[in-house]
Amino acid sequence: MNISVFGLGYVGSVSAGCLARAGHSVVGVDPAETKVDLINRGRSPIIEQDIGDILRDAVSAGRLRATTDVADGIRSSDISLICVGTPSLLNGGLDTAYVRRVCEQIGRELRRKSAFHVVVARSTMLPGSMRGLAIPVLEEFSSKRAGVDFGVCINPEFLREGTAVHDFHHPPKTVIGEMDERSGDAVLELYRDVDAPLVRTDIETAEMVKYTDNVWHALKVGFANEIGNICKALDIDGHRVMDVFCRDTKLNLSPYYLKPGFAFGGSCLPKDVRALLYKSRTLDLHLPILNAILPSNERQIERGLQMILCEEKRRIGVLGFSFKAGTDDLRESPMVEVIERLIGKGYELKIYDRNVKLAELVGANRDFILNRIPHISRLMVESIDEVLRFAETVVIGTNDREFSTVTERLREGQTVIDFVRVPRGSNGANYHGICW
Ligand SMILES: NC(=O)c1ccc[n+]([C@@H]2O[C@H](COP(=O)([O-])OP(=O)(O)OC[C@H]3O[C@@H](n4cnc5c(N)ncnc54)[C@H](O)[C@@H]3O)[C@@H](O)[C@H]2O)c1
Repeated sequence: MNISVFGLGYVGSVSAGCLARAGHSVVGVDPAETKVDLINRGRSPIIEQDIGDILRDAVSAGRLRATTDVADGIRSSDISLICVGTPSLLNGGLDTAYVRRVCEQIGRELRRKSAFHVVVARSTMLPGSMRGLAIPVLEEFSSKRAGVDFGVCINPEFLREGTAVHDFHHPPKTVIGEMDERSGDAVLELYRDVDAPLVRTDIETAEMVKYTDNVWHALKVGFANEIGNICKALDIDGHRVMDVFCRDTKLNLSPYYLKPGFAFGGSCLPKDVRALLYKSRTLDLHLPILNAILPSNERQIERGLQMILCEEKRRIGVLGFSFKAGTDDLRESPMVEVIERLIGKGYELKIYDRNVKLAELVGANRDFILNRIPHISRLMVESIDEVLRFAETVVIGTNDREFSTVTERLREGQTVIDFVRVPRGSNGANYHGICW
């Protein structure tokens, strides 16, 4: 393929070198003459393992050159990768000035070009940047329509400095956020030789994935450090602890617990987070990440409650109120908290959970219901239907299989507030997911 790479920093130099090595014909474009000169002399503008040899070989084989001339770059290619910087502004916001500028320049050249050209953003940009900035600017300056007269994709870059060349060939995944299939196919062609899971998705999802990844990586580092700090204070080897932690690929390093939804609760997580934090306070440790967990969880309960209150309907039905599906344990159930707050505000409620049937409960759970939350036991009914007949707003609180068809059974005008993501109904009921 004939490829132009706009921006010859870390991402651009590595992309240009590796794509040229893969046999493509690549022209790098950058306003910085020193970088352009370096590349044209087969030298690397960045310090990065292996990239020096790759750029030297690509230039001497005639597959890579660089220029400051945007028109040359667009004329000589069918696909352009935007790899310009998106640094922080002083207020923490994202500086998209370079993206705007390069889109203006590319747009102006697209106006003069009749062949179909695909513009691919590799720079990291907040969700909405493509549709709110890059695409309108490209359209304005080219007087053409994106997805029709030229193609647009976002293809986030996952390389890490220091191992960038290796990461280019072995990325954790290839994500193509595409506006139209034709453009997505063109980007896919770039990665013919790359062995990685491929995801083709919409533009906004691709934009958000990149941030989700990086925030997660940052959170992992901070989490491991805080655990290490506790370990050191307790004279435990934090590396040994994290080695064992990482061997658990069922609950720890896995998709488990990683779907947005409602707050956690139950007899273990809140209690154990509290206990470890109390212990760390006695050790004079300052652990901002771990200390943020319970307040974050409380915010999610508050968010769920506010969604119900916003409906301004008095009759509320709750389906599922143990702390998770398949258990009768109500201890520290966040749904119990929501129910109690609604009762306190004078709402009328009927609640159902097949796992929490008073007649069948024994021991601690029966005591808990009868003694700690007797006001709730009076609201419990025997069937989903009873709840649905009564309620103006139906809240789905647990992921019990029984509730998977509830949205299909709602009356027109009835509202469902879903904390667990059951399948969405198609019968005119108002549907609101807690964070989707
Ligand atoms: N560095 C990384 O490890 C990494 C990894 C993944 C994603 N990213 C993202 O990739 C993007 C680029 O990062 P980087 O570290 O390569 O940036 P960088 O600052 O090293 O390079 C940016 C280059 O863009 C050039 N440039 C500016 N305006 C231009 C224009 N109008 N036309 C052509 N070139 C122009 C600059 O001269 C510079 O050479 C950023 O959005 C970054 O967040 C970086």
